Amino acid sequence: MNATLQNLLARENATWLVTGAAGFIGSNLVEVLLRGGQKVVGLDNFATGHQRNLDELQRLLPEVYAGNFRMVEGDIRDRETCRSIVEGVDFILHQAALGSVPRSIDDPVTSHNVNVTGFVNMLDAARQAEVKRFIYAASSSTYGDSTELPKREDRIGQPLSPYALTKLVNEQYAAVYARTYGFKATGLRYFNVFGPRQDPNGAYAAVIPKWVSAMITDDTVTINGDGLTTRDFCYVANAVQANIRAALAPDEAQGEVYNVAVGDRTSLLDLFQLLQHGLAQHQVHYHRDPVMGPFRRGDVRDTQASIEKARRLLDYSPTHNLAQGLNDALPWYLNFFRSEASPAP
Ligand SMILES: NC(=O)c1ccc[n+]([C@@H]2O[C@H](COP(=O)([O-])OP(=O)(O)OC[C@H]3O[C@@H](n4cnc5c(N)ncnc54)[C@H](O)[C@@H]3O)[C@@H](O)[C@H]2O)c1
Repeated sequence: MNATLQNLLARENATWLVTGAAGFIGSNLVEVLLRGGQKVVGLDNFATGHQRNLDELQRLLPEVYAGNFRMVEGDIRDRETCRSIVEGVDFILHQAALGSVPRSIDDPVTSHNVNVTGFVNMLDAARQAEVKRFIYAASSSTYGDSTELPKREDRIGQPLSPYALTKLVNEQYAAVYARTYGFKATGLRYFNVFGPRQDPNGAYAAVIPKWVSAMITDDTVTINGDGLTTRDFCYVANAVQANIRAALAPDEAQGEVYNVAVGDRTSLLDLFQLLQHGLAQHQVHYHRDPVMGPFRRGDVRDTQASIEKARRLLDYSPTHNLAQGLNDALPWYLNFFRSEASPAP
C-alpha cells in the first residue's frame, strides 16, 4: 500500500461501510482499509461480485479479515437493509451498482432500480443516521455527448445510455440532499478503472480484462469501432486513493464531484499493443490480429480527464499510469487463469 495512504489511515480509528464489497473496486477498497488498521463492514448481493474476491482477501489478510471485517449479504434496493447496515458507521464508500453501458441498454429497468433507487436508499439511510461522510462511485459516462477535452467537472453533455443517466441522477440527488438537508455526498467520476479482481468473464466484461483473457486463452480480440476510440485508463490504486482522500478531506471539499483518472488518453489500438507487449514479458505470445467490430451503442468517443480539481481539493495524485498499472495487474490475471485452468483440489 502507498505509504502516504497508510499514514493517513494510521490517524483514523473508524468504521467504514463499503457497498459492493465483493466487486472489483469494492474489494480493493476493503483490502486497503483493512491493511490500514480500519474496521470495515461490507455489503453486497453478489449480482456481479464474487465470493472468490473475498476469499482472496481472507488469504491475503488472515489476521485482520476475521477480526476487523464483517460481510453482510444484502440488496441496496431493500430500505431496511440500508437502514440497518449504516448503524455505527463513520464513513460510507458506496460502490454497489450495476456497471456497464450495454447491460443498461439491454435492461434499463434493473439498472435504474439498483443504480437510482438503491442509491437513494443508501443516501437517505446515511442522512438519517448522520454518517460523517458519504462518498459514492460516479462515472465518466456522465460527460455523454460533450466532445470537449480534457473533461472538466462542470461541463457535461447529454447522457448517451441508461447507465450514464443513472449516474447523472445520483449526482443530482446528492446535490438536492445537500441543498435540502445539508447532507453532503461526494461523487467520484471514475474513468475506466482496471486492475486485479476486475471480472474478465461474462458478456459485460470491461475491455482490459476481456482482452487479457482472450490473449491468455488465445481467443479472438474484438475491437469495437475503428480502434481510435480513446480512454483515460485508471489503475484501481488511484481510485482507492481518491476514495480515502475524499472521505478524510475537510467539510469544504464535500458535496462536490471529482474526476478520478490519470489525465492521459490511450486509443484502443495502442491498448492492444501494450497488452500484447506486457504479456510477452510473461511468455504469453499473442500473434493474432484484432478483429474489428461495430461501434457499440451508447459509447463515448473519447475520454480524458482534467484531474486538477481532485489534486487541488483532495490532494489526489495518481501513483500509476496505464503502463505502471498493467505491470501490476497482468501477473494477477496470469495467476487467475492458471488457477482457473487447474483449480485447487
Ligand atoms: N470499473 C469502472 O471502470 C467504473 C467506471 C465508472 C464507474 N464505476 C462504478 O464503480 C462502482 C464499482 O464498479 P466495479 O467496476 O467495481 O463493478 P463490480 O460489478 O465489480 O462491483 C459492483 C458490486 O456491486 C454489487 N451490487 C450490484 N447490485 C447490488 C445490489 N442491488 N445490492 C448490493 N450490491 C449490489 C455487485 O454484486 C458487485 O459486487 C459501480 O458503482 C460502477 O458503476 C466503475
